[in-house]
Amino acid sequence: MEGNIRSILDDPDYYAIIYKIMKREMLPVSKWTDELFNNRIAAKLSVQNRDLKFLGVGSGSGEVELMNTLQLLKKFPKISITAIEPAKDHIDEYKELVKKESSKVEGVSYSWRQQTLNEYRDEVGTTKKYDVIVAINSAYYFDDIEDTLMYMHDILEEGGILLLVLASENGVSYRIWSRFSAFYKDFSFKKICSVQLTDVLKNLNLDYETARMRSGVNVTECFKDSSQEGQHLIDFLSHVVHLRESVSSDFYTEFISFLKDSSNTNGSDDTSLFMQTEQEAIFVQK
Ligand SMILES: C[S@@+](CC[C@H](N)C(=O)[O-])C[C@H]1O[C@@H](n2cnc3c(N)ncnc32)[C@H](O)[C@@H]1O
Repeated sequence: MEGNIRSILDDPDYYAIIYKIMKREMLPVSKWTDELFNNRIAAKLSVQNRDLKFLGVGSGSGEVELMNTLQLLKKFPKISITAIEPAKDHIDEYKELVKKESSKVEGVSYSWRQQTLNEYRDEVGTTKKYDVIVAINSAYYFDDIEDTLMYMHDILEEGGILLLVLASENGVSYRIWSRFSAFYKDFSFKKICSVQLTDVLKNLNLDYETARMRSGVNVTECFKDSSQEGQHLIDFLSHVVHLRESVSSDFYTEFISFLKDSSNTNGSDDTSLFMQTEQEAIFVQK
């Protein structure tokens, strides 16, 4: 990686700002995740006379975990959540969200930990076990995928469920990282898609089930030179802090052309441009 190019992982607060834009521009997949939590998680778990223990890994600002929690609350009236998230701004937003929605999450207790999964592991080890572990779009940032999957499996209760969600090979991020693989070779995050995760699970002889969901990202703003929102979205998609200022104009032009060539209108009334993407959910029950 050239000296002036920084990964957004090196600046968690900037990550938090631009991830917000990415979430805003993604077509919602909440119906899908609600169904998954009802049918593939709550229906398959049984917990007697105690709280359901939930671990969020890379919880972000909590919107997704809150939706997940609301589904689980239908069956489990008491839930204790441990949320691991290294970005302080994300944790602050998660706390605000829980305060705002407090009437909906009566019966839920929270422990927020501002740290990476590895830091958590160094502190807590395998002493605490969970019924549900959820890592939604955070496996890119694990130091060692196989070792981390084993660790998460180790800290599942018997019968507990690990849910990993990642972009599939049809996902926007994976297509960008593959197209510009030479550029990304020295970045420390993992340029993987869900298929590499399932390959590791096969190697570990861990059974799993999967479900896929197609979606789209509205990238219209990326093609407006003076749009700050567009620049933020480009930075999230590229995973580079201030991509435009950090790379040669030739590379930037090539990057933008790739986004444009990969985009289409939705075929509806407006002229907004969308990049198709796809998420895959992977369930491992212990
Ligand atoms: C793409 S966001 C997903 C956030 C949330 N799960 C969601 O679905 O909205 C990935 C999150 O992983 C966090 N993260 C980065 N490195 C991490 C690590 N080593 N351990 C745990 N979380 C990490 C980031 O700060 C970010 O909030």
